[in-house]
Amino acid sequence: MYQKELLPARSSYHKRAKITCFSLRSSSFSRFFRYITLISLSFLLFATYYLKQQTILQISNDTLHTSFEDINFKDTGVLKGHTYIELLHLNSTWNSTSYHDVPVTIVIIHDNKDNHIGKQLNAIASQSIKPESILIITTSENVNRILQVKKSAKNLEIHVINNNNDIKPFTYLQIIQQKAQTKYVLLLNSGAILGEQYLQNMLHISHTEEYNNSILGTMGINFNGVPNRVQDLSLTCYEDHLVSSENNVARISKDVDMLTNIWFLKRKWLPIMFKEARRDILDLPLEFLISFSLRYHVNIPSILIPTLDQHSWGDTRSKSIHCKKIRREFVNDDAWLRYIERGYPLITKEPFRRKENSILFLLEGSDQERYFRPLYCQLSLVDNNLVKIITTGENFGLSGSRLKRIIKKKGSSCGRIEVYDLDLEIQNDFNVKSQIYQNVLRMTEYLKPELLIYAKVTTKNLLMKGISSAIEGFNGDISIINLPLEEIAHIIGLMIDLPFEALKKWNEPIIQLQIITQNRPDSLSRLVNSLNSSYYFGDENIPLTVNIDRGADPVTLEYCSTFSWNHGKKTVRHRVVQGGLLPAVVESYYPYNYHDYAVLLEDDIEVSPFFYLWIKYNLLKYRYGPDKNHSQRLYGISLYGQRQMELNMLGRKPYDPESKFNGTNFPIRSPYLSQIPCSWGAIYFPEVWREFHDYLAERLDDETKYHLQSIIVPESRSYKWKKSWKKYFIELVYLRGYVMLYPNFKNFTSFSTNHAEIGTHIQFRKNKPAYSTIFGVPLMMENTIYKELPDNHLADFNQLPVTDLWGNLTSFHELIDRGITLHNKVSLCPPHFSREIDQLNFSPKDILCVDEERKRKAIRDYKAFEKSQENVPSMPKTTKV
Ligand SMILES: *[C@@H]1O[C@H](CO)[C@@H](O)[C@H](O)[C@H]1NC(C)=O
Ligand SMILES: *[C@@H]1O[C@H](CO)[C@@H](O)[C@H](O)[C@H]1NC(C)=O
Ligand SMILES: *[C@@H]1O[C@H](CO)[C@@H](O)[C@H](O)[C@H]1NC(C)=O
Ligand SMILES: *[C@@H]1O[C@H](CO)[C@@H](O)[C@H](O)[C@H]1NC(C)=O
Ligand SMILES: *[C@@H]1O[C@H](CO)[C@@H](O)[C@H](O)[C@H]1NC(C)=O
Ligand SMILES: *[C@@H]1O[C@H](CO)[C@@H](O)[C@H](O)[C@H]1NC(C)=O
Ligand SMILES: *[C@@H]1O[C@H](CO)[C@@H](O)[C@H](O)[C@H]1NC(C)=O
Ligand SMILES: *[C@@H]1O[C@H](CO)[C@@H](O)[C@H](O)[C@H]1NC(C)=O
Ligand SMILES: *[C@@H]1O[C@H](CO)[C@@H](O)[C@H](O)[C@H]1NC(C)=O
Repeated sequence: MYQKELLPARSSYHKRAKITCFSLRSSSFSRFFRYITLISLSFLLFATYYLKQQTILQISNDTLHTSFEDINFKDTGVLKGHTYIELLHLNSTWNSTSYHDVPVTIVIIHDNKDNHIGKQLNAIASQSIKPESILIITTSENVNRILQVKKSAKNLEIHVINNNNDIKPFTYLQIIQQKAQTKYVLLLNSGAILGEQYLQNMLHISHTEEYNNSILGTMGINFNGVPNRVQDLSLTCYEDHLVSSENNVARISKDVDMLTNIWFLKRKWLPIMFKEARRDILDLPLEFLISFSLRYHVNIPSILIPTLDQHSWGDTRSKSIHCKKIRREFVNDDAWLRYIERGYPLITKEPFRRKENSILFLLEGSDQERYFRPLYCQLSLVDNNLVKIITTGENFGLSGSRLKRIIKKKGSSCGRIEVYDLDLEIQNDFNVKSQIYQNVLRMTEYLKPELLIYAKVTTKNLLMKGISSAIEGFNGDISIINLPLEEIAHIIGLMIDLPFEALKKWNEPIIQLQIITQNRPDSLSRLVNSLNSSYYFGDENIPLTVNIDRGADPVTLEYCSTFSWNHGKKTVRHRVVQGGLLPAVVESYYPYNYHDYAVLLEDDIEVSPFFYLWIKYNLLKYRYGPDKNHSQRLYGISLYGQRQMELNMLGRKPYDPESKFNGTNFPIRSPYLSQIPCSWGAIYFPEVWREFHDYLAERLDDETKYHLQSIIVPESRSYKWKKSWKKYFIELVYLRGYVMLYPNFKNFTSFSTNHAEIGTHIQFRKNKPAYSTIFGVPLMMENTIYKELPDNHLADFNQLPVTDLWGNLTSFHELIDRGITLHNKVSLCPPHFSREIDQLNFSPKDILCVDEERKRKAIRDYKAFEKSQENVPSMPKTTKV
């Protein structure tokens, strides 16, 4: 099939004969290239620093998943290669007949001792398709000999480059990049002789979907594990055909650590090999440099292609010495070993993993390591987690090998952890910063973590600055958690408990603080101080708003405008018409989306330093992990553990959830769900709060104007309450079966307490115990959350005890039934949800259905009444500034 296509190309192939020779004076030539090497190294440093965004973008489309991996590892996680015959039958977009000369430069690296150059050129001349050009890189003493040989290969366009002394692989590659102008390059080591189908096969295979993003070759090497000392190096070498009983031949295509002797690659990949701006890159063997850099920087694998016969072979020399020779070369210079030790990934060490939760830590120095140690160790013990750690290197206090020793010493208290060492070099300041910048970007790009954790420090050194700027450039694929070192200890229990799905949403919920105040400046400042000294675990976007009612005293006003809030934006709002608590609380918060939450705080409340931890833990657990499907009725999280039941018809009664759970299946310390809304420190969720706004607006109108609906929650004292937002909230909660989550720690230890000072709802009472002794609870000042929770973790939503407005244990079924029963009494429309399709839409419309005719009449009557009362002000209107 190929032969037929090839005939025309071949006949023209013999018509032309052209020989060119770049004859530069040998001494100046090598100096010239050394110069180029240096220049390009430093240029690359700067260029990558400034052009990083573009580079990443350009490369990432090719690389996120190589098609080889996508296709061959899909589902199974096991590489399925192809035999030679299968390879030739793969669909390929390659079509030789559309080319005269195929866009390939064949490059021969010719060394002194080799005398196969004639055979090599003959083999090229006999290829089934003609390459556009040929490049021979050799040393001066060989030039004349090669020119002789070339005369016999008349019909090839050959360029000879005299590269006298500088025989570093890095330099070869730079010469090739400069001189090769074709889309593809076929690079031959000294003595590698091509079978006549070779070029044709490579073009075919490289144009298949499966292999289009791979370097191809027919000989390769795998490391058998990472050697401790370079002398222990053991290699498995694959030849492309059997010459003795001991050599290995691949029957199917396979991923290898390195290709040897022949490389088929795209020219555009060459610059990638110069990306590593380290000095010791000059000492890497060619095999290592090519495979490593493409694999590491752009995830292009090195694939060994099986052969069938001498037409498809790549080398006809005697093979037995080849592996030994490579081994000798590797043992003589161990620069490559340092790359492996730093954790630079090679192929066989990096099986393709999809299912694991990839968590990456970036540790700068041993101080950070100490703080993070319990966290990374414990995370590594969680099922399905794969923890990877990047260190900055010995020069900056923590080398990869030292970290590996630390982890080893921890024994079974640490799981499997992969360590990568950037091993930064100390140069000038700019250089260090740009080194870390590009190294972090590239390493992260390669490791593809889903979660990245690093230290939040207040005074950043150059390294931390570089790390921050690199991380700011990441896009949405990676969740980034930036933790203050001293706060790490408090967050470990949460991080190992939360489902990974929830943990990844770390930055999604935005928690605003809404303070309601009027004229208790001492209380207010106590609250603000307690909020100010809480732990926020690096979160910086915690907006705080103070809502001041009309009639505030000058001290309060002065305090509000001067105190400083460093954890987010601070806003102060002031009312000009006194509204009381109802509008002050309700209107303080109107959510704009699913992630906008509010903690509502009256000024006589004080919070625990761990209130935010409690909120974040519960929010992530119940709203952002798998539990989110079951928690649609959860409308908030209380900071306060209730010790009084207020809704009993006969009056207030002490309450202790422990006594309710004792003797049931629920642990006595289980946090629990309750219908009761807490107004002494709680966070409210957006859907229900927005529904409440809609509900309240209609309810207030009805109560004051039309009197068409009478919504009374049975058995609840709340119907007697005046001017209380909670009264209406309780109606909605009862009708819908909504619940709030409450803490249940020993002795009612809570995340907020109420000092119950004289104010809107609390009057001084003679000869009775102060309210604070009835309602006050101890604040959690030591973090005992994980220790005290049953089984040291938060139970799944479906496992939580459900209680009603009176603190009695019940079930969601029961709550929903009670709600539907009341609903059917007060509204003409059926509830929008049912037992069978229990999907809530968070709109109160279905509750507010009344007879249309009656409603029109009521509105008419009310307007008439208003008119008759023109001069008398009716309801005080609430005005917001
Ligand atoms: C990468 O792919 C995206 C869409 O998948 C495309 O918008 C973008 O232009 C591509 N970038 C490059 C450099 O090809
Ligand atoms: C090869 O391509 C043809 C046409 O594009 C298609 O019908 C066929 O299914 C492909 N074969 C494979 C194995 O993908
Ligand atoms: C190959 O290219 C030639 C010329 O461009 C065209 O005539 C021929 O149809 C192509 N063959 C295939 C299989 O696409
Ligand atoms: C490689 O193959 C994939 C899958 O067919 C294709 O989307 C992509 O464009 C190809 N890339 C190149 C560089 O040919
Ligand atoms: C909050 O704490 C910071 C220092 O931790 C301090 O600068 C600031 O003044 C405090 N603000 C208040 C309101 O106490
Ligand atoms: C959760 O709900 C979403 C949408 O309602 C659904 O697609 C998903 O399958 C559910 N997940 C589970 C575990 O029930
Ligand atoms: C649980 O109830 C039993 C008796 O009903 C009592 O003896 C025990 O002390 C209670 N436990 C707690 C922790 O209250
Ligand atoms: C329980 O809390 C009260 C304050 O509400 C406190 O006075 C008491 O010492 C606490 N008891 C224990 C055992 O901590
Ligand atoms: C709550 O339970 C108590 C007994 O434990 C019972 O007397 C009371 O009627 C219950 N209240 C409601 C509203 O069910």
